[in-house]
Amino acid sequence: MTTKKEKNAPKGKPDMTVLEFFNVATDRMDEWNDLNSAAIKLKNAQASGKENKALEGEVKELLESKEVFESFWAYPGMALFNEIATHFKEGDYGTFAHAVNRVTRALMSGSYRRGPGAWNLADEAEDDSVGMPEYYEQRDFSRPYFEVLVVDNEPSPEKQKRVRDEMRKLRRPEDPFIYEMVFVPSFEDAVAGAIINHNVQSVVIYDNFPFGSKYNLQSLRERIERYMIHDPDTLAPESYGTALADAIYNIRPELDLFLMTDRRVEKLAGEATASHIRRIFYDVEETNELHLSMIEGVGDRYKTPHFSNLEKFSRRPIGTFHALPIARGKSIFKSNWIKDMGHFYGTNVFLAETSTTAGGLDSLLEPKSTIKEAHELTARCFGSEHSYFVTNGTSTANKIVVQALCKPGDIVIVDRNCHKSHHYGFVLTGAQPYYVEAYPMVEYSMYGGVPLKTIKKALLDLKAEGKLDKAKMILMTNCTFDGHIYNVQRVMEECLAIKPDLVFLWDEAWYAFARFSPLYRGRTSMGSVPILKARYAHPEYRKAYEAFKKKVGDIDPSNKKLLDMHLLPDPDKVRIRAYATHSTHKSLSCFRQGSMIHVNDEDYEELVHEPFEEAFMTHTSTSPNAQIIASLDLARRQAELEGYALVRQQIALSLTLRNEVNNNPLISKYFRILTPAEMIPKEYRGKTIDELNVDTPWSDVVDAWAEDEFVLDPTRLTLVCGTAGYDGTSFKLELMDKYNIQLNKTSRNSVLFQSNINNTRSAISYVISTLAQIATDLDKKLAGDTGFAKAFKARVKSLMEDVPDLPNFSRFHDAFRDNPEGKTLEGHMRLGYFEAYVPEDCDHLDIRSEEMNNRLAKGPEVVSANFVIPYPPGFPIMAPGQVVTREIIDFMLALDVKEIHGYNADAGLKIIKPEVLEKIKKA
Ligand SMILES: Cc1ncc(COP(=O)(O)O)c(C=O)c1O
Repeated sequence: MTTKKEKNAPKGKPDMTVLEFFNVATDRMDEWNDLNSAAIKLKNAQASGKENKALEGEVKELLESKEVFESFWAYPGMALFNEIATHFKEGDYGTFAHAVNRVTRALMSGSYRRGPGAWNLADEAEDDSVGMPEYYEQRDFSRPYFEVLVVDNEPSPEKQKRVRDEMRKLRRPEDPFIYEMVFVPSFEDAVAGAIINHNVQSVVIYDNFPFGSKYNLQSLRERIERYMIHDPDTLAPESYGTALADAIYNIRPELDLFLMTDRRVEKLAGEATASHIRRIFYDVEETNELHLSMIEGVGDRYKTPHFSNLEKFSRRPIGTFHALPIARGKSIFKSNWIKDMGHFYGTNVFLAETSTTAGGLDSLLEPKSTIKEAHELTARCFGSEHSYFVTNGTSTANKIVVQALCKPGDIVIVDRNCHKSHHYGFVLTGAQPYYVEAYPMVEYSMYGGVPLKTIKKALLDLKAEGKLDKAKMILMTNCTFDGHIYNVQRVMEECLAIKPDLVFLWDEAWYAFARFSPLYRGRTSMGSVPILKARYAHPEYRKAYEAFKKKVGDIDPSNKKLLDMHLLPDPDKVRIRAYATHSTHKSLSCFRQGSMIHVNDEDYEELVHEPFEEAFMTHTSTSPNAQIIASLDLARRQAELEGYALVRQQIALSLTLRNEVNNNPLISKYFRILTPAEMIPKEYRGKTIDELNVDTPWSDVVDAWAEDEFVLDPTRLTLVCGTAGYDGTSFKLELMDKYNIQLNKTSRNSVLFQSNINNTRSAISYVISTLAQIATDLDKKLAGDTGFAKAFKARVKSLMEDVPDLPNFSRFHDAFRDNPEGKTLEGHMRLGYFEAYVPEDCDHLDIRSEEMNNRLAKGPEVVSANFVIPYPPGFPIMAPGQVVTREIIDFMLALDVKEIHGYNADAGLKIIKPEVLEKIKKA
């Protein structure tokens, strides 16, 4: 956020870019570094007796622009900042440069969190507490540090100092954390503070403050309104306190909010709007209570019951007489042959290895103590009613949810391109998949998301055929591997208008991080639930529904207009039933295979709880890995305390990488990162962004994310490499082998770069320099060798233009359909699947053979006995019981990939014999 620009921006003209919004911490550091360099130059000029007016002007402007911004941070804080500015104003450039340098270094290294030195600008040594006021000496700087945002009506510097000193005196050696306060004077400044300052963990709101900021935070004001439940223009000043709490909650729900008021606290506490406030205090007398409550609030998030217990357990002297020889590590450290295992992994991993569920350790299969508590903390963190840890990845989490919710014969409308765990889930449960198609991106051999119209049509067709009662669940991947994000609220709303008790399983394997950004949260499963619930409970919605009902009447599947209309569910009938599965290990800090299931289902207790437990037992090992469980507990702690900062950084880095690749004249000759316009067809993007660039206006992004059917996750970057003559797989291998850059997903002509909370600016610049190096090499080769240039051109053409059409799901064979004459596509896939287990019921057919060609043209129909899944692209081009078409075989023949699961090229395609199909049909 460039606050200087803000300050000077004409009212009504938002000028914040998307990068400015997310890059706020990095921009701040860059500005301190700029100030530091300028200050050193100024000092040197003064020392050598020279004047430098231009530099002085530059520094003056930097200081002025920083003043607004620094007012949102406790360190260095306005007192130290003003001290710095005074040295400059007085022309004492030596002291000025020393002080700026000290702050810059403290911010870069984070030493202000750990030691008192950084808080005393005059001091030489970094961590020397000599000469510190008493409260600094009391500080145990090994304790985690956070900042408290205090919202108070124009607090004078004297009052700020008094309150700060008062709170500092309350510090006790046994406090597990240390904090400093930052004061803001208005509603708008408070929201800006919560957005900008990621160190903030608690907000203390002193009732009775104005709405507007003295700075022109116009673009922020527009953003604030999106987070407000009430219209700021109609809000009475006495409601500012609770409205501010709501607004901050909508931005960062993890923060602890405290309201200090001299109004009737008892009444306020009972008001619904006060629900996000952790505690309401009667005025300032309660400072000690406030101090303890803030420490306790952060402590609640810091708490990792299972990890802490495991850690404690590892320190106990225990003899193991159960089946886990590596527990305590003796079989390793005393071994003559595998000592290196011990050296590599260290002792703790063995000391913490256990299979016991006694002695204070809990059982994942029947949690009663620490795992149960860890589940509850996780549910709070992710906004669910229930959360569960899973130790075999989302592959298992998905099967658990599908089995908990579906019984044989139930219909699930599902993206055919979804992860294979779902397909196997249908086989296990006997649910009938109704495969629907995502929009294809043929040029890049990949799929996007499933349009809402397609999902609605499937539901309406089921209704027309009298099968809607069997439709149990809608199952979609959000976001997709390649970054397509659904409008979750809209999808749920319109589907619930057709069937009000539908269950939604959103496979958010890639998307656990999304909870921690206000931009993404409304497009997650758990984030959508409270929004929809509040919407349907609102009298305005009821009015809108009644008008809709009057206009449309009952949902009639023969009414073609319904597909283009925004359908509204009946508020008296609708049930909100949402599930999400997260590969926590894919985007947060936990060990591989650590996953979570989150539940927000109004009918969970009555209808699902017991089947869920059964399904959990079905798929969970009786020897779940203790380290994975503990790391899930820790991943939650980190996400709740620093997820906001880390995800913001992740998004900013991705935007930077996008920008550098697409605008660098050398790199962009050969490589391009696909834009929203290239990844999402226009009809699903509404009026908004074609490009997602560093200078895309923030307001456009917010509008798109609020309204569009699909948006692109900026942290998933599809880099086209076909234009550099590489297919996805060879480019991935080259990056790994030659440059130590590891990627996962590829397509025929692209690779996917995913950024995550682990990335740094250095890592991004390494990617940029690597691409520049490859581009330089290509430039050289193309200039020097005409043979190479000719072959290069042909290769690029083949990779970018000779791309096979993506085959749609054809249909299940009639033998596996309840009503072969009907137009709905669901089928009993499980029957087909188990046919493959009977060798005499199956044949193998060479996909290039005459017989295959004849049968595709004239019959009898060829029916797959297996899932056939080529990698890439990684979706099943055939499912058991599915009719094989010419289109599918042509796609297979055009594929130049080596890995095709479910297909043995030597034996041929495994198919079910026609006579067996006839027999099943008649049965
Ligand atoms: C959409 C989706 N769901 C589920 C999974 C399986 O997750 P896990 O690797 O945690 O088992 C994946 C894996 O890539 C995936 O892409």
